[in-house]
Amino acid sequence: MSEANLYPVPEHFKKNAAIDLARYKAMYEQSVNSPDTFWAEQATSFLTWQQPWTQVTNSNLRKGEVAWFINGKLNVSVNCIDRHLPARANQTAIIWEGDDPAEDQFITYQELHDQVCRLTNALRERGVKKGDRVCIYMPMIPEASYAMLACARIGAIHSVVFGGFSPEALKDRIQDADCQVVITADEGLRGGKRVPLKKNTDIALNHCPKVHTCIVVKRTGGDVQWREGRDFWYEDLVAHQPSEAESAIVDSEDPLFILYTSGSTGKPKGVLHTTGGYLLQAAMTHKYVFDYQEGDIYWCTADVGWVTGHSYIVYGPLANGATTLMFEGVPTYPDASRCWQVIDKHGVNIFYTAPTAIRALMGAGNDYVTKTSRASLKVLGSVGEPINPEAWEWYYRVVGDSRCPIMDTWWQTETGAHMLTPLPGAIDLKPGSATVPFFGVQPVLLDADGKEVVGAGEGNLCIKAAWPGQIRTVFGDHQRCVDTYYSTYPGYYFTGDGARRDADGYYWITGRVDDVLNVSGHRMGTAEVESALVLHDKVAEAAVVGYPHDIKGQGIYAYVTLMAGEQPSDELKKELLALVVKEIGAIARPDIIQWAPGLPKTRSGKIMRRILRKIAANELDSLGDTSTLADPAVVNELIDNRANQ
Ligand code: PRX
Repeated sequence: MSEANLYPVPEHFKKNAAIDLARYKAMYEQSVNSPDTFWAEQATSFLTWQQPWTQVTNSNLRKGEVAWFINGKLNVSVNCIDRHLPARANQTAIIWEGDDPAEDQFITYQELHDQVCRLTNALRERGVKKGDRVCIYMPMIPEASYAMLACARIGAIHSVVFGGFSPEALKDRIQDADCQVVITADEGLRGGKRVPLKKNTDIALNHCPKVHTCIVVKRTGGDVQWREGRDFWYEDLVAHQPSEAESAIVDSEDPLFILYTSGSTGKPKGVLHTTGGYLLQAAMTHKYVFDYQEGDIYWCTADVGWVTGHSYIVYGPLANGATTLMFEGVPTYPDASRCWQVIDKHGVNIFYTAPTAIRALMGAGNDYVTKTSRASLKVLGSVGEPINPEAWEWYYRVVGDSRCPIMDTWWQTETGAHMLTPLPGAIDLKPGSATVPFFGVQPVLLDADGKEVVGAGEGNLCIKAAWPGQIRTVFGDHQRCVDTYYSTYPGYYFTGDGARRDADGYYWITGRVDDVLNVSGHRMGTAEVESALVLHDKVAEAAVVGYPHDIKGQGIYAYVTLMAGEQPSDELKKELLALVVKEIGAIARPDIIQWAPGLPKTRSGKIMRRILRKIAANELDSLGDTSTLADPAVVNELIDNRANQ
């Protein structure tokens, strides 16, 4: 192990953390050698079941079948709220920090209970029942978590759509999940700017005749259009409701939520998670990975529109009876000190964010950080994309004052919870490595022939045994689930990531090996951006690749071929950018559009993305073999054009 890059477990964590190295090893061993015993013990200690399971798991990765805690019954909202009331009714469950630093709110477990019950009653009054799908298109306000938990209380399936998605993207998701109820807000507020959520919803709902109820939280009081009979103010619906609501008895394998995520082909997939296994892994990882201890103030900066917000703002922390901070704004508003000020204001002990935010804040300079105390911090976390060692070191030294270990957590929408991650009291850290597997996770690296790489080496990252938080299906299309995750390497779950394992058994994620981009930690299919670009009637063809970007990790680079006779222009570029924003949202806006008179294709007509990636990254020395192209001259044309960017 190279000592220079090794950050050993701090002494006080070795002594005080729930899990030290010996315990990690013993628990990991048990988790893979006697999974039934291990998971049964964890499920009993972390969750409250209304009826015990009859079998721990019945999973078969060859068939893409996964099931945990068979016949067990529990309710997620009871586990996240009701069972805590005897001891924690007056403890803060959610600290809400507004976009405006002057606005905050402290919601106790009792208040959370009452709010969730009122909304549960209101939803039931609007006809929502177990198994129905409810779309949540919300800003980061407490009502977003009330909505998720109210669905869980009913046994309805929520589909949270990130507030940055466009009306078009929202429409697709509402239609795909066949939602009949949408919960939104008049407007969101981020960095002082208003986000027209109700207006976007109206546009989407023009194409969703089955939506009979749209519930609107009044956040800003901005102007909104109203359709009588369909639109209801949240406040009006919940005001008269009782603060008690029966919780549905839910099977461990009943769905909890659908969350859309991008793949290498086609439209985003509705990843479906179920109840018992998901909640267990979210709760367990929240406790062990952050060494969460009673009384800690915990802050994850994600948005509830992403899986990180589901597992680590709402479900994991609340299942553990923690105090979770929910932040409406952005890390740079009013200025780049905001996160550190919020940490001091609320005494945050555990802070979990994304490398893209770390890099942006690092770029703003140390003064924004060092003028704050941050003395309350004890553990830092990173998620969503590889963290470059430079950003890691800055996060460690400047933000954490060389005192707080960084948990670099690798996982995916599909995995439900952390998969590769250090534990603060057990695992020495190496900047840039997500380190070792969490309990029950059996990662393998497969080579081009599908053989397991032994010892140190590199390959496609797969998982060879089912885990509780695993994706169960793609909503409405199980075959797509099987094709995407289980057919590349039969018997394994294929992550879509490449990874390297070093001599110490540490994993280093090398990035996606498919056509999925990771832009500022947001997952984006190149095919989605291409489909948006070719909607323009002047565009004949488009090819989108990622390229290294200092802040975003990856930027979006689009090669666009115009129809014969059409001329490139700045005006047209603007139209194309606007089109992508309209179809998907601002997060998908290409950073660079290059006009491409032709694209490098094989003789069978397949675009050689490898070459496009190299040109975009300006790695012109390593283009590789271009002789098999139908028209090798195209490459030089693209390179010459690139120079003119
Ligand atoms: O490529 C990996 C990257 O993000 C992908 C999953 O994206 P998503 O489903 O949106 O979930 C993001 C939040 C869990 C992965 O396939 N990724 C996520 N975490 C890391 C990471 N890459 C490297 N290091 C990480 N810690």
